[in-house]
Amino acid sequence: MYTTSSGLLHGKRIMITGASSGIGAASARLFADEGASVVLMARREKPLCDLAEEIRAAGGRAAAVAGDVTSPGDVERVVSVAVEAFGGLDAAFNNAGWGARGTDLHETADSAYDRIMDVNVRGVWNCLRHQIPLMLDQRTGGTIVNTSSTAGLFATGALAPYVAAKHAVLGLTKAAAAEYGARGIRVNALVVGTTRTGLTEQNPRGGPQRPVATRAIQHRMADPSEVAQAAAWLCSDRSSFVTGGAVPVDGGCSAV
Ligand SMILES: NC(=O)c1ccc[n+]([C@@H]2O[C@H](COP(=O)([O-])OP(=O)(O)OC[C@H]3O[C@@H](n4cnc5c(N)ncnc54)[C@H](OP(=O)(O)O)[C@@H]3O)[C@@H](O)[C@H]2O)c1
Repeated sequence: MYTTSSGLLHGKRIMITGASSGIGAASARLFADEGASVVLMARREKPLCDLAEEIRAAGGRAAAVAGDVTSPGDVERVVSVAVEAFGGLDAAFNNAGWGARGTDLHETADSAYDRIMDVNVRGVWNCLRHQIPLMLDQRTGGTIVNTSSTAGLFATGALAPYVAAKHAVLGLTKAAAAEYGARGIRVNALVVGTTRTGLTEQNPRGGPQRPVATRAIQHRMADPSEVAQAAAWLCSDRSSFVTGGAVPVDGGCSAV
């Protein structure tokens, strides 16, 4: 884990979904280390609360709210906690997602399609629908980062719902950036390449991204902290002229 502690996110109040493990947890640690107050969301309460406690014990500011991004009510509750605990929201990292290497498209169950679209697309939709009104009300602008994937740019086999979902995340990102740019809200997506997390390590079929790793110019998986660094930059004022972007953190995978 990189611990630069440059104060990159000093004073920022940032909501992170999918914070109980992987890229989200690495981002929570990094953002807090860089001076942000973080509001963490995921379904599993124990790892989420343990992480918030770890951050507070290290002198950071963190709140944890267990919830499901597919539920608008749960997302609304997390946004409310950002206001109650820290007085508002300056940035959001909408990172919760899920996908499993499945079967051919014609053999994929409708329920699998629904679940993958729900978590990856409706989850981001729910977040945007509750974060943006607060940012508009605050009149201080804001920055939002959504987690897409190299699967949001090109297809890999037996992953049709995930490929469709991550393409949709890029579409939502561009639409929101276009609509709210003049009102001070930047919206970007991370095009994440294969990253060593539960998604790639615990999935018995290798996770949705593992075959893509072989395409990467750097011929390796990312560490979650490397993705967190890009998310931190996009949440910071240093990326002030970047919006509507699909920012690759993929070891060069999308270049070849
Ligand atoms: N790892 C890769 O190779 C890779 C590559 C490209 C893109 N991505 C994307 O990166 C993001 C993070 O994944 P990861 O690799 O860090 O995997 P991970 O360790 O499995 O993390 C996924 C996170 O999303 C949360 N989550 C899943 N469903 C949720 C729901 N319905 N509501 C709220 N939280 C939910 C999980 O927490 P709970 O289970 O506690 O809810 C967990 O914190 C995802 O969007 C994934 O698609 C990953």
